[in-house]
Amino acid sequence: MADGKITREFKKGKNMKRILTGDRPTYDSFHLGNYVGSLKNRVKLQDAYECFFLVADLHALTTHFDKTSDLEKNIRGLMLGNLSMGLDPKKVTFILQSQELEKLELAYILSTLTQRTLLERQPALKEKLDQGEQDSLGLYQYPVLMAADILLPKANLVPVGKDQKAHVEFARDLAIKFNKLYGEVFPVPEPLIGEGGTLPGTDGQIKMGKSLNNAIFLTDTPEEVEKKVMSMYTDPKRIHATDLGTVEGNPVFIYLDAFASDSDKQQITRYKELYRKGQVGDIEVKKFLVKILNNFLDPIRKRRAQFEKQPELVDKILREGTKKARIEAQKTLTEVKKAMKIDYFV
Ligand code: TRP
Repeated sequence: MADGKITREFKKGKNMKRILTGDRPTYDSFHLGNYVGSLKNRVKLQDAYECFFLVADLHALTTHFDKTSDLEKNIRGLMLGNLSMGLDPKKVTFILQSQELEKLELAYILSTLTQRTLLERQPALKEKLDQGEQDSLGLYQYPVLMAADILLPKANLVPVGKDQKAHVEFARDLAIKFNKLYGEVFPVPEPLIGEGGTLPGTDGQIKMGKSLNNAIFLTDTPEEVEKKVMSMYTDPKRIHATDLGTVEGNPVFIYLDAFASDSDKQQITRYKELYRKGQVGDIEVKKFLVKILNNFLDPIRKRRAQFEKQPELVDKILREGTKKARIEAQKTLTEVKKAMKIDYFV
């Protein structure tokens, strides 16, 4: 629409803040927990910021070097997941990390400013090693590459989950250090921690996770959703529909609150009252949740089906986005080398 376009172009002026975020393509499908934790926020941000979205395949290699044959499928899956959520390639620049060669050059430069012991002490490394990951140089310098991801497009804000906050702070410290040593080149990036919180699994565990076998995926069919919801964990103390039920912390009600549209809110309030009083059965509430979730997922499924029909379009979005990002990247890298006085031969 004409109006929307004008506002956008106006906003896209010099002062529009930049956002960079990304995922490692270690899986090929998002689940409802990913939606609550980050995707929902992403879709909103694309209207207020100039957005870069990274498919971090080089980072995926740090743990998946022995599963590289999955990467291509996962990259496509992530792209489809983001596009089906409504991320608009006109607003978001999609980047495939391994194809943006400038990044490796910047990462090397940043590594020369990085204290080795700082990398050694990063909690994320310890966690990965405890999980049995290979003690590789790639894993060790993970934060340096991530700093290059962030600084290369001069991102101001980095939307991430709590677990990634330390990495963004690491990038921020590098930006400050670089600017102090060589002159102002990088905006100092800030983490933007989503407020979405953590969605429990269908089994009542604190977190929904692909490997935990307690996830509802954005790609699940209506029948799969129904099957998962009908066997969901609820209030364990409630045996008969006439027992007084607990709503707080009950995943069925948490999902209802997270995914209902405004027009369903009243009915949810009513179900909560009845549930507490022991006047409605779990089955009825679950059936209602199935309906809510399928209503929420339907437009996502439709968009996904559209994109799935055009695999060459999805590839093109990633290829052209990377190309566009590289133009920005080259500008930054030229500035970097100039500031450092290593811009020989130009
Ligand atoms: N490390 C992030 C994760 O595992 C993925 C990632 C790589 C990223 N580079 C990034 C996130 C830059 C934000 C910004 O989730």
